[in-house]
Amino acid sequence: MNLDHNAALRDADPLVARLIDREVGRQRHGLELIASENFASRAVIDAMGTPLTNKYAEGYPGRRYYGGCEVIDEIEQLAIDRLKQLFGADHANVQPHSGAQANFAAFMALIPPGERIMGMSLPHGGHLSHGASVNHSGVVWKAVHYGVDPSTGRIDYEVVRSQALRDRPRLIIAGGSAYARIIDFAAFRSIADEVGAVFLVDMAHFAGLVAGGVYPSPVPHAQVVTSTTHKTLRGPRAGLILSIAEHAKAIDKSVFPGTQGGPLEHVIAAKAVAFGEALSDEFKIYARRVVENAQTLAEAMIERGFAIVSGGTDTHLMLVDLRPKGLTGKVAEKVLDQAGITVNKNTIPDDPQSPFVTSGIRLGTPALTTRGMGAGEMMRVAELIDRAITKQDEAALARVRAEVEELTSAYPLYQPRTAAGGRVRRTA
Ligand SMILES: Cc1ncc(COP(=O)(O)O)c(C=O)c1O
Repeated sequence: MNLDHNAALRDADPLVARLIDREVGRQRHGLELIASENFASRAVIDAMGTPLTNKYAEGYPGRRYYGGCEVIDEIEQLAIDRLKQLFGADHANVQPHSGAQANFAAFMALIPPGERIMGMSLPHGGHLSHGASVNHSGVVWKAVHYGVDPSTGRIDYEVVRSQALRDRPRLIIAGGSAYARIIDFAAFRSIADEVGAVFLVDMAHFAGLVAGGVYPSPVPHAQVVTSTTHKTLRGPRAGLILSIAEHAKAIDKSVFPGTQGGPLEHVIAAKAVAFGEALSDEFKIYARRVVENAQTLAEAMIERGFAIVSGGTDTHLMLVDLRPKGLTGKVAEKVLDQAGITVNKNTIPDDPQSPFVTSGIRLGTPALTTRGMGAGEMMRVAELIDRAITKQDEAALARVRAEVEELTSAYPLYQPRTAAGGRVRRTA
């Protein structure tokens, strides 16, 4: 078994254990470039796999609907306190099961159904849960969207301002899934104030960069900030909400009983561990290296003839425009998968292709940086991507696969514990 702590699982259900083995093997032996993924520490994973999953704890610390919550209360309070310290927020709710749940609960707390909300459009880098028509957020509220200027790949704040003045949204959302540049939160806040809207930032993608001090914090500008905890923040798969004191009660009510039942206290314990890690000096170094690696990778891709939307990145991710190479995102994703390089196809602004085909791929460096990779490896990754995409024949893909194996073996992931029960060596 790859993760040695699940001996009981191996005995009880070898089929599930083997499938987990295979997935851990895939993570170990592949180059993970999906910008929204990361490798949580062994401590975070250990906290999740505990009997805390057995406990019902509807309500909040000190105000539960179930008995026996005294230890759970301490755990959840610790997660709240660490989260508030990490981002300097007045109020924190650590119960959202995911980023989309956090957004829905926050929107419900702030804006009555049927009112207008404004977020970044999905094909320009926004997220489904910001009012896309296929998401309930686009059904419950009337959603309007801003995009990026296709010639620069960046948000034009004057265009956003005139759209907001025209559409008069009650809620303005900043943040997205594929925007590689620093967002001007002060500009957004002044637009929101001008039209009488609440300003919410979804920092799901860049929360770890904010925690590490390499991306401006939205907390001083937005009334409410939502996030996932599993991307750059490198915690368990889940969500969170921060707010100013004025919205604290409404946010808490909207999460429970508004949109969720019992909190996942095993995941909340893992969030406490992750927030503790993110408060460390080591995490600041990690966040800085994530951005440096992304910038090195973007430059190396440009040198190899790829185009990068907006010409580069300020963050952990970049959108690669494949049109100069005459390829679609769908083909590139598949070819790279065969070579052990995991990416996702992604629309680029004003993409001529459908969202199922796309003209781009999104690349991110959080996971490879967690493994300990640096600038030299990023240049090698660009070369491997280029070779796989350009050649595409089986022999070439097998050669790239072998080099991926060599690279990943040099940066091991989730090493088994030592016989003496010592700590796992962290690679970053
Ligand atoms: C900006 C943003 N918000 C919300 C989410 C949703 O998070 P989850 O998948 O945890 O629901 C994502 C996920 O990709 C995201 O990128």
